[in-house]
Amino acid sequence: MKIYKTIADMRAASRTARYTGKRLGLVPTMGALHEGHLSLVRAARAKCDGVAVSIFVNPLQFGPSEDLAKYPRTFERDRELLEKEGVDILFAPTPEEMYPTGAVTYVTVEGLSEKLCGKSRPGHFRGVTTVVAKLFHIVEPDAAFFGQKDAAQATIIRRMVQDLNLPVEIAVCPIVREPDGLAMSSRNAYLSPQERKSALVLHRALTEVKNRFDQGERNAINLIAAGTQVLTQDPTVRLDYFEIVNPVTLDPVPELTSCALVAGAAFVGNTRLIDNILLP
Ligand code: PAF
Repeated sequence: MKIYKTIADMRAASRTARYTGKRLGLVPTMGALHEGHLSLVRAARAKCDGVAVSIFVNPLQFGPSEDLAKYPRTFERDRELLEKEGVDILFAPTPEEMYPTGAVTYVTVEGLSEKLCGKSRPGHFRGVTTVVAKLFHIVEPDAAFFGQKDAAQATIIRRMVQDLNLPVEIAVCPIVREPDGLAMSSRNAYLSPQERKSALVLHRALTEVKNRFDQGERNAINLIAAGTQVLTQDPTVRLDYFEIVNPVTLDPVPELTSCALVAGAAFVGNTRLIDNILLP
């Protein structure tokens, strides 16, 4: 596995791969890799001739009171995991390389970026789309792989790619869960043993909504109330949002007559966790 830290080296390597007719897949990450990331790497490997993974804790997508400084950084372990998965290229730039002093250009997907997590994390999606657009220009992948866990992120990135005519195929891969149902996340590492138990309420709330849906309930207000009731049972959990939306527009739907995204976010202690399901 080749490791590149500069944009020039990364671009040269990707151009060489493309000149030889290879289809390159990119898995953008912020490191602290878990099975969810590795499932993206495997999907990229299945669809592409070469796989590049980026590790970059993107300061632009963290708010001033968020966890940028303490975000887990486990580069050596991540490198070993990626070597084992047979990844060809690891791109690990510094913040200075990605955002030299004076950079003032951003990519914003208007409207969508203020929905779901965008409501309580202003500027977050602008940071995501700016860095992903930069990564697409630097790595020039044929395809890029994202997780369904960040459902709104995936919708917004698809929209950006469509609106800016970026020549990248976007693949969104299923959520990978722990055996008890907790969605895998790098932020799970923050949870104390007690919080780890409480964190399961998000999955329980989504399961409750799915059960009610399977029993025939289609009214979004009733389904949200059922999910919210589960979420608010645990006093150590603070609900951020629990919504049922159209997966493309991210607008609330009144009735579940076609595919809908049920998405929630909650603080367990100081850790903000998200999860979702698609119905049906
Ligand atoms: O999903 C993530 O880990 C990040 O938002 C991403 C896409 C790597 C951009 O920093």
